[in-house]
Amino acid sequence: MTLYDLVEPGLVCRSNDPAEPRYRIAEIREADPLGADALLAAVPAMNHAADVPALTVALRALVPEPARLARWGVVECLAAMRDLGLLLGSLKRHGTEPVAAVPEVGPVLRELGRRTDMVPRDTVHHYTTWNPLGARRRSYTATDMERHLQDAVRMVFPSLVAALDSCAEVARLEPYDPGFAPALDRTAQHVQSVVDSIDFTVANVTPEFFARVLRPYFEEIDVDGRDYLGPAAAQVPLWLVDLTLWQSDRSDPAYDAFLDESLPYSLPAWRAFHAAHRGSVSAVGKVSAALSWESAHRLPPQLTASALSLARVLRLLKTFRARHIGIARKAYHDDLRLYDNGSGGAPVALLRTVLDLTRDNETLVRRALPHADVSAPRTPAA
Ligand code: HEM
Repeated sequence: MTLYDLVEPGLVCRSNDPAEPRYRIAEIREADPLGADALLAAVPAMNHAADVPALTVALRALVPEPARLARWGVVECLAAMRDLGLLLGSLKRHGTEPVAAVPEVGPVLRELGRRTDMVPRDTVHHYTTWNPLGARRRSYTATDMERHLQDAVRMVFPSLVAALDSCAEVARLEPYDPGFAPALDRTAQHVQSVVDSIDFTVANVTPEFFARVLRPYFEEIDVDGRDYLGPAAAQVPLWLVDLTLWQSDRSDPAYDAFLDESLPYSLPAWRAFHAAHRGSVSAVGKVSAALSWESAHRLPPQLTASALSLARVLRLLKTFRARHIGIARKAYHDDLRLYDNGSGGAPVALLRTVLDLTRDNETLVRRALPHADVSAPRTPAA
């Protein structure tokens, strides 16, 4: 059984709008509006040879006529951005600003960004979820490790789409509501995917490969005088879970600044979620306020269940972050790194800050439950 078999059933998007074109993943993967399949299959060889003239010609050859672009729907626009993106990152990796080298791509990136309501560059979604599988897969290096990293990120997408629903429910409810703990348990089930993803990454991608081979392809590029980050794993919107659980009212300026920079790279529905929930009372805020009203020895059972479920999902977030910082530290060690910052624009020090914040919030909730076993997973309600 391949990883693909394991993760693909999760692509069912539950109660999120099935008409949302960005969730029509099979169609986007299938689409080849630029007729780029053959050309992109040759990109790894061009990259291997650092053949900037060939990459430049390839990018120029793919730039569509405005009339053709105007006929496309969102699905085709997303696929076209994905395919141009592979050449943008490749040229930049070899020291060439792609829009300066092929100026006619600038208006196309702007228009594709406008039509898809996203940044005028490819993102982690284009590079992973919307990337075809099998022989048509787009990659910079055509190596197993690059494929594994793409798969590791791709496998969390369905869970995070589903987490939009469970987190919205947590945000709507109070810790005394019977639905609060089950919504947290469902969120925990979704967060488990990022733990599985980082375990898969640690097992299959070496820090050396990431630091020396792959990281340079994720450098930022200049579009209209503004830098746009490459398709970084850091853009995976785990923040939407943080936001609901603790970040909305218990954050730190460094994490807030990182989120502000990351938000434009996410999907419109997720940005709307952020706008709707920022500054609201988080789950930790609600649970700790409720706990402060109750006597520690006689907590209402509903509140105990809510606090326990909250501690469990925070613990999973902490587990992801503790394992993730391990591989990030190695990849950005002085002896290995080519860049000070991650491809998402922040240093490893940010990961320490976010791990500490996650741990502090987990400790706060767990202390209210001195006798509970927060490590035991609960079976989420359907
Ligand atoms: C070789 C593998 C990886 C390395 C070296 C790495 C490194 C980093 C670094 C340095 C950051 C700080 C921000 C930035 O990138 O500018 C970051 C952030 C982040 N990365 Fe990774 N990463 C790796 C794989 C992954 C994977 C597989 C995932 C999950 C699917 C992931 C999810 C995240 C998230 C969600 C953040 C934002 C900070 C947080 O929520 O804790 N990373 N990563």
